[in-house]
Amino acid sequence: MSDVLSVVVDGIWRQGDRNLAVRLVAENGAALPGWQPGAHIDVHLPCGLIRQYSLTGDAARAESYLICVAQEGASRGGSRYIHETLRPGQKLLISPPRNLFTLHEDEPVILLAAGIGITPLYAMLLRLEAAGRPFALHYFVKHRGSAAFLPELTRPFNHGVCVVHCSAEGQSPRNTLAEILPGPDSWRHLYVCGPVGFMAAVRDAGAAKGWPEERIHSEAFQPVAPPVALGEETFTVTLASSGESWPVPAGQSIARVLQDHGVAVPLSCEMGICGACLTPVIDGTVDHRDTVQSEAEKSASAQQIALCCSRSRSARLVIDL
Ligand code: FES
Repeated sequence: MSDVLSVVVDGIWRQGDRNLAVRLVAENGAALPGWQPGAHIDVHLPCGLIRQYSLTGDAARAESYLICVAQEGASRGGSRYIHETLRPGQKLLISPPRNLFTLHEDEPVILLAAGIGITPLYAMLLRLEAAGRPFALHYFVKHRGSAAFLPELTRPFNHGVCVVHCSAEGQSPRNTLAEILPGPDSWRHLYVCGPVGFMAAVRDAGAAKGWPEERIHSEAFQPVAPPVALGEETFTVTLASSGESWPVPAGQSIARVLQDHGVAVPLSCEMGICGACLTPVIDGTVDHRDTVQSEAEKSASAQQIALCCSRSRSARLVIDL
């Protein structure tokens, strides 16, 4: 675990009725590594879990990181630990920020958030406002009391607007998306973050309005489907650097095979949702099983493979390790 930072929980406070904001500062008091809106960190919780959380708030602040965590009814353990056990003063290990949800801020941007999906988009809004770039944020919540960062989001902005839509007031995504989503002519990029069903609904609404797939950017911190079966075909994985090659049997991940042979593989979620294990592919045809890359990235000429979950359609796969 070399690439980790030691931090201290500097503050915990409510954001809406079911979210907790958590401020982290470096244990040694130094500045933390810089980050860009859209970045996330791995948080190594003392209960043994590693969870990914988007950084939120003002990316220009180097003295602390802010995350915001929803209380999940179907928590896989991370949300429950943070809501029930985490306390100010507690030490944690985190990864440096990693960004797979890059903000293209040179042209007008539409931001669509639902629930705790507001976290990366709130950071994007602050960046766009500070940079004087046009934006519009539509934030879907059950009711106003469940919204995070409500005072910050409902103040006047100079370069864009934020509209909060409450399902309890009849403004659910189902009722509202088709009406509020503009076409792609005067807006260049569309960013969406929230529950899987919400993101699928935004993509459908975007497609109906003529948004090209490559201009819709999303990030999921839940697997889109239950963790995928690892497949039945055996293939070989080859390291480009050394030429070493090993079979990857049915039911084992490439990452496990590499680790069993002493190859260091950076792993975090092990579900194809965080991007920690993405590795360039030199030769072979990837059977992509991750949800962290877009369809365009999965079909580009230069590809990366998520070693924790993806497999090979070709008998031999050569990776850049
Ligand atoms: S470890 Fe998260 S995508 Fe592979």
